[in-house]
Order: sequence, then structure tokens, then C-alpha cells
Amino acid sequence: MFQKLQSKWKVGGWQLFLIFCVFAITGTLTAYISRQITGWLDIDRTSPWFWVLKILVLIFGYQIIILIISFPFGQFSFFWNYEKKILRRFGVSFPGNDSTVSGNTSEVSLTRIAIFASGAGSNAQKIIDRFRNHLYIKVSLVVCNKPGAGVLSIAQKEKIPFIVIDKERFFRSDAYIPVLKEHEIDFIVLAGFLWKIPTELVRAFPNKIVNIHPALLPKYGGKGMYGQFVHEAVINAGDKESGITIHFVDEQYDHGAAIFQAKCLVVDTDTATSLAEKIHVLEHIHFPRVVEEVIEVQRAR
Ligand code: GRF
Repeated sequence: MFQKLQSKWKVGGWQLFLIFCVFAITGTLTAYISRQITGWLDIDRTSPWFWVLKILVLIFGYQIIILIISFPFGQFSFFWNYEKKILRRFGVSFPGNDSTVSGNTSEVSLTRIAIFASGAGSNAQKIIDRFRNHLYIKVSLVVCNKPGAGVLSIAQKEKIPFIVIDKERFFRSDAYIPVLKEHEIDFIVLAGFLWKIPTELVRAFPNKIVNIHPALLPKYGGKGMYGQFVHEAVINAGDKESGITIHFVDEQYDHGAAIFQAKCLVVDTDTATSLAEKIHVLEHIHFPRVVEEVIEVQRAR
């Protein structure tokens, strides 16, 4: 049950605990306040006003109190998004940050992507290009673990919000799940991201994180198998072909279910650098398209 809630709300275990605390305190406080109000106004239990007042306090007071209580617990943005969802159902719109796109006759919900990358960001650029004018898929955040990485300049140039993450917080605290939640992220694309994804984050985004690996998994995957090391290993093993694997991310390095593979030849004259170039071409052709297809399939469910 807790895991289901974590993935539905896209929160980690600790945040879920804080959210429960906010709900519990708000419930108790609202009941107390409504009792006090009916007491002060001296309204009799048998009067219909007693119940009208109680219901009003429970409906409106609760929403206000929950926002106030969420503040000291650091959960304001979670509850504010929750309130916004309720208000949207009553036709209130929030300019600039709405999760829906209005067409002529229908409303389509947005799927917001966060791209995680550590390097130059050529794949990130291709994905940004693909979705720049997309009707319902949007790159909303770039997450990077390396200050000065090329991908940060791309985010800046494309005016996409970006964050540089801290190792300690990523692995030993909330894994930045509240930040992803704040940006209403639905889907994560790892495009050359070198850190392992913490279990909390995998659980908060089940089957909603995809990675690209520059080899034909399950060969040449795992810890330490990235960049030139992968291509050197392929060449040293004398393999006649290599390629790319796009796969879902689970708790182990390069291990989740494969979604797509494409191959290229490895010839005798290839070096790690020339092989990397061939692989990059394959990545740029296929990665954005496959990401779009995965999102389309999931949206259709
Ligand atoms: C790609 O080859 C990807 O497969 C690997 O890291 C590289 C990232 O390249 N995981 P870029 O930063 O997108 O140019």
C-alpha cells in the first residue's frame, strides 16, 4: 500500500511519512476548530446550522489548514499541487504552469520530462528538439551532477529550468523527489547520466525512467561501463558489432527491461573514438523517437 502511494504521488518514504503527519495534524485540528466555533456561537446540535457550519469548516477550513500545517513540514509544494488539482476540477486555471493544454474541443494533459545528464548533452539536445513544439510532451527540467557540463549550457540556451544536484542529497536524503514533484515531472530520461539511480527514485517512478546505454546489453553493462570504457571493451573483445540499448531503469546498473536495440558494425580499423561516433549517430536517430513511443504507449493505457 505504501509503495503504491509512493509511486502515485511520486514521493520517497520519508516524504510520505511527513505527508501522513500533515494529514493527521490537519484532521485533528480541523475537528477541534469546528467544535470550538460551534461552541463559541452557541449553536445547538439539533439546529441544522450546526451541521451546515461543521461541513463548511470541514470542507474549506481543512484546505486552508492543510496548507498552513504543510509549511513547517516542508511539504507546502506537495499540498499546493494537490489543492491546485482540486481547484482545476472546479474550473480554476493557473496561468503559466498548467498541466493541461487546451485544444479547440478537448483538453490534453501534459507529460513532463526531466532529462538527467552528466556530459556534453548531445542526446539531451536531440530530445529537446523533438519535443520543442510537441502538443503534450514537454522537457521541463534538466538535472545534472556536474557543474560546468555541456548539458547545462544547452538547458540555459533552451530556457529549460535546470538543477545541479548534490551527491549526499541524491543518495542519502530525498533523492530530489520533492524537486521533481515541484516541476510536476512524469517521466525521466537518462541521457548519459553517470550516477546510479537510488531505489527511492526508481520506486517513485516505476517504469517511468529510461536509460540509453552505448552497447548491446546485457554485454558491456554494469558499474564502470560507460563512455570510452564500453567501446574499448568491445574492441578489445574483437566483437564484430556493437550498438545501443534503450531500457527501463531498475535498481541495478544497466539491468532493467530492454525496450529497443540498434546495431552497427565494428570494423578492424575502428578505435574507441570512431566507434563512439557511430554509436552517437544511432543514439541521435533512435532515442528521441523511442522516448516518444514509450510515453505514447503509457498515456494510452
Ligand atoms: C552516450 O553515448 C550515452 O549512451 C552514454 O553517454 C553518452 C552521452 O553523450 N550513456 P551525450 O552527452 O548525450 O553527448
